[in-house]
Amino acid sequence: MKKMFLLLSLMFLMIGCGKDKSETTGTKEVKKTLTFYAGLQEDHAAMIAKKFEEETGIKTSFVRMSSGEVLARLKAEKNNMSASVWYGGPVDAFVAANEAGLIESYISPEAVNINEEQKDPDGNWTGIYVGYLGFVGNQKMLDEKRLEMPTSWADLLKPEYKGEIVVAHPGSSGTAYTMLATLVQLMGEDEAMEYLKKFNGQVRQYTKSGTAPGRMAGQGETTIGITFLHDAIKYKKEGYIDIVISAPSEGTGYEIGGVALLKNGPDQETAKQFIDWVLTKEVQEMGKTVGSFQFLTNKDAMPPAEADPIKDTKLIKYDFDWAGKNRVRLVERFSIETSTIAPKK
Ligand code: F6P
Repeated sequence: MKKMFLLLSLMFLMIGCGKDKSETTGTKEVKKTLTFYAGLQEDHAAMIAKKFEEETGIKTSFVRMSSGEVLARLKAEKNNMSASVWYGGPVDAFVAANEAGLIESYISPEAVNINEEQKDPDGNWTGIYVGYLGFVGNQKMLDEKRLEMPTSWADLLKPEYKGEIVVAHPGSSGTAYTMLATLVQLMGEDEAMEYLKKFNGQVRQYTKSGTAPGRMAGQGETTIGITFLHDAIKYKKEGYIDIVISAPSEGTGYEIGGVALLKNGPDQETAKQFIDWVLTKEVQEMGKTVGSFQFLTNKDAMPPAEADPIKDTKLIKYDFDWAGKNRVRLVERFSIETSTIAPKK
């Protein structure tokens, strides 16, 4: 009888030990996760995901896509979002996403530290960085072909640059859409379309991503590219020493890279925690550790020294709200006028 009692007690004890602690208390612990769509450089997104996971214990994953791709994916996932944050990429695409009902307004407490003109007052996007559009060239190839580095939008139409230029397609790339919207704001829509038809004849290849032309110029795969200048500076620093840059004398457009909460995304509270965190001075300043040399939007953040040579670039007064609201229409008109479609790869 005594033996039987001991055996039963032992069995109960073993069953008890085998049970998950949270199960026994009836509070099953749910592991938090976060997925974001990244519009900035892949290495930047990977570093941020790793740091956030280290600091919070929240399992974090991301998918890097160009702006047009994110937009298309959000539209497709509208009723079943798999990510909860869009992190990086020019905000005109965020404005377009908001127009399509894909953004959940969120004003982070950290947004008080973001420069006034670099955040949406309604919380549909908040700026994380600023980048200037320009030209990238390969000096060795320019010398071999006896070409000067172009220094204006007008230069790009000169016969000697025919077949020497690589640029992304505005349907897929935020960089290329910044170029399209810049030209429309500089010249007026009809004149810009006339310009772009001629420019199309100069282009050797349209890429999917706006960062590709800079890398291609560095690798000697194109003489000239159109890109955000900070990406060209990154590639030069990575060892592509023939890279040279210039900015159009008529004035150039620029991006505010943003972060936003996605409507119907999972883990909304975790997503807000992530947004609060990426807006801080410390996290913005981490970009330069992986070669992201954009200017920063947090009032207390130090811009990277590598961006200093381009700080006086002549900028146009770029209207992000207008650019976002006209994105779909302008890309469609561009594609029709130039008979081009955005490359898939
Ligand atoms: O540095 C990467 C970057 O140029 C960002 O500054 C910018 O927001 C993004 O890439 C644009 O990428 P894409 O043109 O491919 O949409």
